[in-house]
Amino acid sequence: MGTILLNNQFIDRSQGTVDIEDRGYQFGDGVYEVIRIYEGKMFTGDEHLTRLFESAEKILLDLPFTKEELLGNLLRLIEKNSLNTGIIYLQVTRGASVRQHQFPAASEAVLTAYTKEVARPEEQLNQGVTAIVADDVRWLRCDIKSLNLLGNILAKQEAFSQGSFEAILHRDGTVTEGSSSNVFIIKNDQLLTHPATNLILNGITRREILRLCADIGLNYKEESFTLDQLNDADEVFIASTTAEVMPVVQAGDTIVGNRKPGKWTTKLQAALKDSIQQQCGELVHSKG
Ligand code: PDD
Repeated sequence: MGTILLNNQFIDRSQGTVDIEDRGYQFGDGVYEVIRIYEGKMFTGDEHLTRLFESAEKILLDLPFTKEELLGNLLRLIEKNSLNTGIIYLQVTRGASVRQHQFPAASEAVLTAYTKEVARPEEQLNQGVTAIVADDVRWLRCDIKSLNLLGNILAKQEAFSQGSFEAILHRDGTVTEGSSSNVFIIKNDQLLTHPATNLILNGITRREILRLCADIGLNYKEESFTLDQLNDADEVFIASTTAEVMPVVQAGDTIVGNRKPGKWTTKLQAALKDSIQQQCGELVHSKG
């Protein structure tokens, strides 16, 4: 929308420019976050900002602001754009310098952030979506929310071209995560999801879901599962900031749960919605 944040400045989107030697642009040398806004308020904002600082530390990038300063600016950005339901996208790159692979001796990190109206995907949440299954060809530091997303976007494009919502990724038959989400299965009243290792992004929605399992009385294990287990699951869902708890009713060639969202998935959707409403107030708008 209209106003964007560039470092410490609020400017009109049309005034926002990128240096052609910005390392984010040339190398994907930076990190990012996507934060959900409901009813004009951030959901799990603190967790996202903490993860941003952790990602930055993992790529040896010093952020020239504190979490509190950034939070203050993001709140102002929401207000300036009168955002009700949507997202904040923010990224920090290592800044601009003459192209060389090693870090420049001196460059200043560049922060950009903007807001976008994004409605809750209610129809898909009610009906579920389909997913393809694809090889996870990404690097071995998927725990970093890095701007380098080629492996993710190639998988997502493959899903999209086959009319699917997501690509469920696996390494040698072990399911890791989705191209832009975490993946969960439920078998015999137990939820399984890949542990938070270097092979997945530890999603903020994932953490929230594991916390909510206790509330709804669902056993869970952070334990990896195979493609065979995926095909044999009672329920499958994916989760992310924008997709929430999204039922998967077909994974590859396998129809899940008669093509209907399962009972635990539905309970988790409701529990997540409650948690959102506790933080952001009653959800009265579904659109921006
Ligand atoms: N993606 N795994 C990957 C690879 C992701 O890109 C994402 C989120 C997640 C879920 O993380 P979270 O619950 O914190 O959103 C897991 C965001 C939404 C994106 O790139 O647009």
